[in-house]
Amino acid sequence: MRRELFVILSLICGISVSGCISNTAPANTSSTPKVEVHAHRGGAALRPENSLAAFTNAVADVGVDSIELDIHPTTDSVLIVNHDDTVNPSLCLNPDGSQIAHPPVISHSPSTKIQKYDCGTLVGLPKDTSLPTLNKVIETVEALAPINGKPAQYDIHVKGNPKSITATQYATLILDVVQAYGIHDRVHIMNSSWTFLQAVRALDSTISIYYLTSQIQPGDLDSAVEVNATAVAPLGDTLDATTVQTFHAQGIQVIAWTINASYRWKSLMDIGVDGIITDNPVGLDELINGNLTDQLTIGPAGD
Ligand SMILES: *[C@@H]1O[C@H](CO)[C@@H](O)[C@H](O)[C@H]1NC(C)=O
Ligand SMILES: *[C@@H]1O[C@H](CO)[C@@H](O)[C@H](O)[C@H]1NC(C)=O
Ligand SMILES: *[C@@H]1O[C@H](CO)[C@@H](O)[C@H](O)[C@H]1NC(C)=O
Ligand SMILES: *[C@@H]1O[C@H](CO)[C@@H](O)[C@H](O)[C@H]1NC(C)=O
Ligand SMILES: *[C@@H]1O[C@H](CO)[C@@H](O)[C@H](O)[C@H]1NC(C)=O
Repeated sequence: MRRELFVILSLICGISVSGCISNTAPANTSSTPKVEVHAHRGGAALRPENSLAAFTNAVADVGVDSIELDIHPTTDSVLIVNHDDTVNPSLCLNPDGSQIAHPPVISHSPSTKIQKYDCGTLVGLPKDTSLPTLNKVIETVEALAPINGKPAQYDIHVKGNPKSITATQYATLILDVVQAYGIHDRVHIMNSSWTFLQAVRALDSTISIYYLTSQIQPGDLDSAVEVNATAVAPLGDTLDATTVQTFHAQGIQVIAWTINASYRWKSLMDIGVDGIITDNPVGLDELINGNLTDQLTIGPAGD
């Protein structure tokens, strides 16, 4: 273990590093198992969040295992990639270049309206940059050569509040896009509603499902088994070794979100998580490869 990491962990944990990380199993630091790197919003600390530039950087330059992105359906059934269900006035401008006073709700608007906004100028991308569609993200990513030889996975975080379509219709829209691009086996459908995830499972018996939550609750294990979830994705700060082992015992992975600080990456790896969603996939990559040179302590956790 790196000396400065040990110092930081010792400060936090009092005396013993392994005692802090896990009461049930000693930390396996000699040969830490491979943890997957998932780029949160494409790696929001490196490029403008949820942009084609971010996804391209994550896949072709960093070589992440998976890109995480958020989708919202427009009234004409186009899937728009954006964090919020409104066009963010701090990231986008009106088509005429003025500031957005009344941000439109994406899932209550037609795609033609949403795609007119200038979501480039304020974030350092070309002025004609519109919010990308899921289709465009997939086309862009699939055209790239992955640097680690493995094609990228997609964590599709399903969001939005569509008024005129049911959960089943929404899930169908998403699964149709995924099928059309032949990426079914590399997609994880991520959402916090068991009802929505059950609707997904009823339509597709094998697509990977990630259950997103702030903290695992009693009953989540049963629900995850019932829906045949690939993974649960709790907030990293709420995880402990026992929780990870409980899901592993059922063959369910644990993917932690959204952790940017290197001492937290290390402790999550030590309790055996399978993947970490981070804004800084370069730093996490370096930690995994044993050549991280600085302690990274950026930012709090967020969704
Ligand atoms: C530590 O983890 C590595 C990689 O998964 C494994 O091969 C090794 O057996 C583990 N060692 C112990 C003591 O658990
Ligand atoms: C889950 O999906 C629904 C749409 O079916 C959405 O309204 C909700 O915000 C999603 N949950 C999260 C945490 O994104
Ligand atoms: C659960 O999902 C996995 C992965 O998609 C699949 O291989 C397996 O057949 C599914 N199990 C059941 C009981 O459907
Ligand atoms: C870190 O290690 C990896 C794997 O050994 C290597 O590919 C990469 O170039 C290294 N990065 C730096 C900055 O040395
Ligand atoms: C760390 O992640 C959270 C969640 O996105 C974010 O709010 C925060 O700004 C990040 N820290 C950075 C990029 O410095």
